[in-house]
Amino acid sequence: MILTHSDFRTTSLLSAIRFCSVVVLAMTSVSTFNTARAETVLITGSNRGIGLEFAKQYAGRGWIVIATHRRNTPPETLTALAETYPDQVRVEQMDVSDQEQILALAEQLKGMPIDVILNNAALTSSFEDTTKHTFGTLDHSQFSRWMAVNAHGPLMVSEAFIENVKASKQKKIVSITSLLSSFGRNLGRPGKFYWDKASKVALNAVMFNLAHDLRNDGVIVALVSPGIVRVEKTMHLPRMPRQIDMSVSVDGLLAVIGQLTIEQTGSFTRYNGEPVPF
Ligand SMILES: NC(=O)c1ccc[n+]([C@@H]2O[C@H](COP(=O)([O-])OP(=O)(O)OC[C@H]3O[C@@H](n4cnc5c(N)ncnc54)[C@H](OP(=O)(O)O)[C@@H]3O)[C@@H](O)[C@H]2O)c1
Repeated sequence: MILTHSDFRTTSLLSAIRFCSVVVLAMTSVSTFNTARAETVLITGSNRGIGLEFAKQYAGRGWIVIATHRRNTPPETLTALAETYPDQVRVEQMDVSDQEQILALAEQLKGMPIDVILNNAALTSSFEDTTKHTFGTLDHSQFSRWMAVNAHGPLMVSEAFIENVKASKQKKIVSITSLLSSFGRNLGRPGKFYWDKASKVALNAVMFNLAHDLRNDGVIVALVSPGIVRVEKTMHLPRMPRQIDMSVSVDGLLAVIGQLTIEQTGSFTRYNGEPVPF
């Protein structure tokens, strides 16, 4: 087929229009989440439990929320939240034990300042079947998985998004740990929960180390404990002594995180502001 001069002009015009549409679309999507320069939080494991409560509360306070999950399709809880806050909540897939997925999202968010990285995702103990966590009947096939998700995952996420954090105003990396990891608090109480305790102690070590490495960059690295929180998966069980609602825990944690300064880097704090010994 031979193209005439006017065909070329039409083709060029169409290409130019297509190019402009792509640029406008790209600018729209960046500006939707960037121009207001509201503070930004990236939350791992945000489709249920404490992570979802964080996503709701941050969005309610006007933050931009990068709500991540590990599912193959966007979880309904997050699509509903994104519908409520279309200009603030962005739902992204990221399994924290999958380095490829972490790096792919980091590439996508390159250049976007992220004020708070919230390492929340974790494997958590089942209170109904404790045999897998009890000496004598331990399920050893689970150990490396727990370490991968609860300790290695937060480290990989922190490393992948460090430039985003450094470019932000608040510069915070916060990891949710547990009183079960505090030797000073007798590991919550001694016995059982081997995988939970070992992986959270490892998380604490990794984050304590990171606090040292990032101090000169002004990045605050902190560990927080949410208390004993009633989440979806424990709703059907009788209320435990001292168990609190998600809104109470997250409300307290937001205050703790909001008040963190560089002097507190490497610290371990409960949701009510009480310092926790390692
Ligand atoms: N609840 C408490 O009483 C309590 C006490 C102390 C500490 N904590 C800590 O608080 C944090 C939140 O706990 P929670 O009670 O809300 O737990 P949860 O209800 O069990 O929720 C855990 C979340 O982590 C996600 N997740 C698990 N593996 C993941 C992976 N590989 N990649 C990405 N996401 C993953 C889950 O996704 P799926 O839905 O796909 O499984 C879910 O969204 C955890 O770090 C936990 O250790 C909780």
